[in-house]
Amino acid sequence: MKKFITALAFVFAPVLAMAAGGPGIPLDHMKPDLEDRASLQRGAALATNYCMGCHSFKFARYERVATDLGIPNDLYEKNLIFTGAKIGELMHISMDSADAKGWFGNPPPDLSLEARLRGTDWLYSYLRAFYVDDSRPYGVNNTIFPDVGMPHVLADLQGVCAEQPHFGVEPQYDPLSGRELTSSGCKEYAVKGSLSPEEYDKAMYDLVNFLAYMGEPSKLESHRLGKYVLAFLAFLFIFVYFLNREYWKDVH
Ligand code: HEC
Repeated sequence: MKKFITALAFVFAPVLAMAAGGPGIPLDHMKPDLEDRASLQRGAALATNYCMGCHSFKFARYERVATDLGIPNDLYEKNLIFTGAKIGELMHISMDSADAKGWFGNPPPDLSLEARLRGTDWLYSYLRAFYVDDSRPYGVNNTIFPDVGMPHVLADLQGVCAEQPHFGVEPQYDPLSGRELTSSGCKEYAVKGSLSPEEYDKAMYDLVNFLAYMGEPSKLESHRLGKYVLAFLAFLFIFVYFLNREYWKDVH
């Protein structure tokens, strides 16, 4: 019995560790949709243009991403590879990790498995959580990852938030005027960006959706296969049903 309980403790240990993980900062929720190819394609474009200067996706191959996202290889190579790499190569970058540590305090980690490490809610909030803080080397801080070494690389899209934004806040409205009293995200901008707040949130949804896909590329494949497997089982059922009837016909 003792052994059984010990074994059970080991089984649940990772679950408990997950539940206890993180400092418990409230997050905004996003639900990835790996079937939404247009969203994944927009996310891939954002990741390539805004993230791959510093972060690699070294567990992924360009060609696999192009195929999964339905982007023809030649278009992908022409528009989404800036390092001169070939379509069959892994998604490395040229920034040296030791140099990067000197520049940013910490090297930018590989992002292939980031969505599995942090979760999609964390990422969706983190990318919308930069705000002005003149005490920091790049003039910005982040609600979700305080004192992060990463600059606000999406500032030309979002702008820069004038005060610290909060997340996971239920929206509340003034009953008389209908004015919004509280809600998640940035309220005041010190610098305006090229996107509206709604457009920026949508862009970050696409980017996190893409990061979710990167963490589990075979999920797309298994969803596709799953449909065929279910159709096959349904088809098989018809034959099994009649075969069963045939066998039991003479048994009373
Ligand atoms: C100018 C270089 C640079 C660019 C461009 C950049 N980052 Fe970063 N990023 C960093 C650095 C440096 C860190 C490490 C910060 C630290 O640990 O303090 C980091 C950390 C992160 C983290 C947290 C990693 C962790 O779990 O500790 C995430 C997530 C992230 N970046 C996502 C992105 C995304 C998404 C993009 C594209 C929109 C992007 N980054 C673009 C430099 C960059």
